[in-house]
Amino acid sequence: MPGSGTSLFPIIRVDRAAQIPLYKQLYDGYRSAIIRGELRPGQPVPSSRELADELQVSRFPVLQAYSQLSAEGYFEGRVGAGTYISSSLPEPQLSTGSGKGSSLKRPRGPRPVSKRAVLYPKFDDSVLKQGWGAFGVHQPALDQFPFHLWSALISLHSKNPHASAIHQINPLGSERLQAAICAHLRTSRAVQCEAHQIMVVSGSQQALDITARVLLDPGNTVWVEEPGYYLGRVVLQAAGCHLAPIPVDREGMDVLAGIKRFRRARAAIVTPSHQYPLGSTMSASRRLMLLDWAHSSGAWIVEDDYDSEYRFDANPIASLQGLDPNARVVYIGTFSKVLFPSIRVGYIVIPSDLIERFVAVRYAMDIFPPYLIQEVLADFMSEGHFAKHLRRTRQHYKERRTLLIESIREEMGGLAELHGDEAGMHLTVTVSDSFLDREVAAAASRERLWLRPLSPAYIGKTPRQGFILGYGSTAADQIAPAVRRLRSLMLGE
Ligand SMILES: Cc1ncc(COP(=O)(O)O)c(C=O)c1O
Repeated sequence: MPGSGTSLFPIIRVDRAAQIPLYKQLYDGYRSAIIRGELRPGQPVPSSRELADELQVSRFPVLQAYSQLSAEGYFEGRVGAGTYISSSLPEPQLSTGSGKGSSLKRPRGPRPVSKRAVLYPKFDDSVLKQGWGAFGVHQPALDQFPFHLWSALISLHSKNPHASAIHQINPLGSERLQAAICAHLRTSRAVQCEAHQIMVVSGSQQALDITARVLLDPGNTVWVEEPGYYLGRVVLQAAGCHLAPIPVDREGMDVLAGIKRFRRARAAIVTPSHQYPLGSTMSASRRLMLLDWAHSSGAWIVEDDYDSEYRFDANPIASLQGLDPNARVVYIGTFSKVLFPSIRVGYIVIPSDLIERFVAVRYAMDIFPPYLIQEVLADFMSEGHFAKHLRRTRQHYKERRTLLIESIREEMGGLAELHGDEAGMHLTVTVSDSFLDREVAAAASRERLWLRPLSPAYIGKTPRQGFILGYGSTAADQIAPAVRRLRSLMLGE
């Protein structure tokens, strides 16, 4: 119902003791709120009945004021849909007075922020602004998602919520979801875990943040993959850590190089199953060397296992955590890839002796995860829909990946080298240093071709040039034309 719930207190007030008629007070109140920009074009206004009830006045002066405001063009009525602030009001009209944002007072005097706050890099949404389709990264095939079933589960749990679910205050999350995630991780990722070790969080990002708060101090050195995952590094930077870039090759992170250069590091953050962004799988010898280093030097390993449910030509690679006899690995996973990123659900498998610490940090942060999505996801997993969805999308991505590889070989042979095409929903191509990936990506975005440049994934001064190409949301018939377009853009054709 338009306007309902749109309380206009304290913007619109009336003073019954004043000499000015009520309709005039209402008219003036609306008019000046519109001019000050507090009410915006297109915004619904309450019905005359609702406002009269809210202000406890008769409906008559409200109707009089509304009719005057409509006659002067401040209000518009939409047939059967209520009354709105007129969408055709020109901006200059709104900026009469002190202009857009006039309600914001000009800041004066010292305005100190924390030293920690300035450690965060400025938010840059240019990457997030990528559209849907070729070659958007982190975009799943939404046409494959069983929304019908999903919405039935949402409806079920909204209509009949269990009191225990609504009242649960467990910083680890719902027991049902913990159990479902645990069963999945044991069978498909060879993770060693019990359900009580699982903490349900808002995506890998919160998982990394909580982990950093528990394990790291400002000034600690942490190994990160070079190239690596930007948002993972942001968390470490914000924790005041020193980032030690460790090169990555076809066997994953070069552990020996890490030991030689930064033996005393407090932790290593790795993507061993499908290195982001180059896509290599960490070899068995490096896995064992990494675990051995962590054990002997008292360091932690954070395993970010973000998309390894998708491996196409062989069985999924077992987790690093599953190989670890010393509980040195904090394992992090997410539903962002296997379902969709805006679901904002991920999990941490916490070494048993650290559970209390993780719980304390989480409790101070956001207390516990929202109940509805957990109930829905628990059913989705335990009723077998999740496994079915994985099987279906694995086949789907496999076909798209094959098409993409064939097109790259055909169109870009000699121009681009392929990396990491065995798994996930993206692959990476490196190109000669004579191409500047950021510039090509900027030109491509003007044609709605979404290239993620590779060079920003490096901390060091000698980044490789290339592109991370997502194919999750790219329709099969878009793939070859998109690759041809990429080639033309690179060659300036
Ligand atoms: C390396 C890596 N880790 C984690 C994620 C997922 O992050 P989140 O679970 O916060 O969406 C991504 C991207 O989706 C990624 O590329």
